[in-house]
Amino acid sequence: MHFQLLVVLALTGGALATKFCSKGDAAIVMEQWSALYNQDASGMTKLLIGRQIFDSLFDRVPAAVGLFNRVNVADRNSGGFSAHIMRVIGGLDISINSLGAQCTLSSITSHLLAQHVVRDGVTKGGFAMMGEVLVSSLEQLVEDFNPDVWRNCLMPILNAMSKDLPA
Ligand code: HEM
Repeated sequence: MHFQLLVVLALTGGALATKFCSKGDAAIVMEQWSALYNQDASGMTKLLIGRQIFDSLFDRVPAAVGLFNRVNVADRNSGGFSAHIMRVIGGLDISINSLGAQCTLSSITSHLLAQHVVRDGVTKGGFAMMGEVLVSSLEQLVEDFNPDVWRNCLMPILNAMSKDLPA
């Protein structure tokens, strides 16, 4: 009886611990992210990181550009599009920094999901592509980058943010 209870607890505990990624992977990702994106990084550095991510997304999926007309994607250096980039990168920052707090991270991804469900044309596929773009962009910016570790943590975040979107 005790043994069965222990097995159930171990399995449930394991499942909870891996809803996003393992504690070990989360610790690496949070530490490497904070070395890149921290309070000492200037607003311009943060904007450049975000701009590189969006440029790379649009290179791979040119059809996605039109989704951002409202925020003046026609001029990618405009205040409107720069502000959009900062909102997205800010959402990513809060999510990564919450990898150690699963309930908080679940609330954040639910909120981001709700903000995307109302946008026509935003798909799960777009988020999967964003995941690939993030991995390949961050590979150039993060020291000792391990793509598997980053994928383990980023993909579940992006999946949670897009789980109710059309394929
Ligand atoms: C790391 C992943 C992402 C994060 C953290 C993120 C975050 C955000 C945030 C914070 C907003 C502003 C929401 C608001 O103020 O209402 C937003 C808007 C938006 N996002 Fe995302 N996003 C992500 C990925 C994507 C992807 C992959 C797409 C589509 C391919 C997308 C499409 C949009 C669109 C169309 C808007 C509305 C822009 C507007 O204001 O007109 N997002 N996103």
